[in-house]
Amino acid sequence: MSEGILLSQVARGTLLPEGERVARLREALPQIEAVLEGESDEVAIQASLACLLWETLPQANWCGFYRRVGERMLAVGPYQGRMGCLRIPFEKGVCGACARTGLTQRVPDVHAFPGHIACDEATRSELVIPVRVRGRLTAVLDLDCPYLDGFSATEARILEELVARCFGSRTGL
Ligand code: SME
Repeated sequence: MSEGILLSQVARGTLLPEGERVARLREALPQIEAVLEGESDEVAIQASLACLLWETLPQANWCGFYRRVGERMLAVGPYQGRMGCLRIPFEKGVCGACARTGLTQRVPDVHAFPGHIACDEATRSELVIPVRVRGRLTAVLDLDCPYLDGFSATEARILEELVARCFGSRTGL
């Protein structure tokens, strides 16, 4: 049984200064990990992370997962925000680049990223983090923001570690 997380209320669409964003993320981390403690179902973890990161990152206009459903295909998974594309091949977009390379994609200006998929015209920056289970890429975490440079390198690193811990605990990695 969980009650979600306790953070100060910040209006959706607010881009806090970087230091405040990092502090907010650090404040949320132990709460998020407590909620997910002992959970082993991948979709339950994805859905809860989409919900809790949405609360933690008020700058996001989309927050959720694309799941690997084929050798080189992603399909939308649990998310918060406006309607997202249903499928993304590995060859397309920022999510595809993350799935293809297995590397986090931090894109401060999506208009400068060749092949970016504009699900929402308002999106200006994006962060996509690979999710691995037993070393195999099973999904990507996609975060979009209507401001340029909405996710810093520090936020990216903290989120990478969170994702590794949350999905790693499922596999004993
Ligand atoms: N912008 C992403 C597509 C997913 S949505 O924005 C929700 C991309 O280029 O991969």
